[in-house]
Amino acid sequence: MDNVQIFDTTLRDGEQSPGFSMNREEKLQLARQIEQLGVDIIEAGFPIASPGDLDATRAVAAEIKHCRVAALARARQEDVEAALRGLEPADKPRLHVFLATSDLHLKYKLRTTREQALEQIAKMVRYGRQNCDEVEFSAEDASRTDIDYLCQVVLAAVESGATIINLPDTVGYSTPDDYGEMFRKVRARLGAHPNVVLSAHCHDDLGLALPNSLAAIDAGVRQIECTINGIGERAGNASLEELAVVLHVRQDRYQVTTNIKLEMLYPTSRMLSKITNVSVPPNKAVVGANAFAHEAGIHQDGILKNPLTYEIIVPEKVGVPARRLVLGKHSGRNAYRSRLAELGYETTDVELAECYRLAIALADAGKEITDRDLVSIIHKVRRQPATANAR
Ligand code: KIV
Ligand code: ZN
Repeated sequence: MDNVQIFDTTLRDGEQSPGFSMNREEKLQLARQIEQLGVDIIEAGFPIASPGDLDATRAVAAEIKHCRVAALARARQEDVEAALRGLEPADKPRLHVFLATSDLHLKYKLRTTREQALEQIAKMVRYGRQNCDEVEFSAEDASRTDIDYLCQVVLAAVESGATIINLPDTVGYSTPDDYGEMFRKVRARLGAHPNVVLSAHCHDDLGLALPNSLAAIDAGVRQIECTINGIGERAGNASLEELAVVLHVRQDRYQVTTNIKLEMLYPTSRMLSKITNVSVPPNKAVVGANAFAHEAGIHQDGILKNPLTYEIIVPEKVGVPARRLVLGKHSGRNAYRSRLAELGYETTDVELAECYRLAIALADAGKEITDRDLVSIIHKVRRQPATANAR
């Protein structure tokens, strides 16, 4: 089975989004955790952006030794020099050079021509390659770039020394079919360069970042750029934890592996939330508070009999401490009996029936039943005379 390289850009694209900025120490703390998580490449920052970003990139590059450290630069001399300075302390550096390639960006944002952009790309990739062992080139807005021109860009970058070509869906506009097709066409034009690694980088503006990343894998892409909790510009990037879990749970379908240690996913997600003070929506796949919580009585009963009835992966596998059966008015007696037993109270059928009646009354009043409620209910039931319990 092929291995898909995971390129984490939480510290760069993720940090770029409002509310997620991190200081040097916070970036370092998260970088250590992301390294433990098993990613292959950490993008540490965009050093031209600020002296603080340069400093944080250098700090990450000096400390992170198991995975490769990347730094971003526009295809401009001063950017590339700043990124190279950021990467100086790295054992395994990767210079990440990008330039927009769609006509829209060339004409309105960069006010340049296709020909000039091609020259600039070739020149900066060549310069980067003379100063760094590994260069990745990204064609910003690739998914809205004329495909023939995109192929010319890719060939120019490869012939100038780039060995990884990233084709981002910068504005989250692509659909899985379109995105996969773009990679197939580019791969076909790269016939003479079979070792070039193609990479996907998807934004979630239409909620398609994950499906687009998966379509890219189907089309032969072997590096995916993503972030913890899916943070990133606007609606964010593809979420690392969702990607890693899909590739694990549906390995039968995608036939690829990753180096991610799944049990580190939840702690890493929590660490990011804690550092940035931004919580994860409760219904978020894999790491949301409700991702493994079951409230409906029928579901709880099924889970207690065999977790496979309603769970496609055990919570512990992704580092979630323990399955949470939310006790409420939809919960069945079996769920109440089980939680009481976990709390140390083995109940008779009569006691359980009374506990259940009191708990449902409380839940009907709009309350979620906590462990503390249950303990006070069972004590109350046990204080009642036996005849009352036998009702
Ligand atoms: O979304 C994008 O195009 C990017 C590139 C700079 C890689 O973040
Ligand atoms: Zn991006």
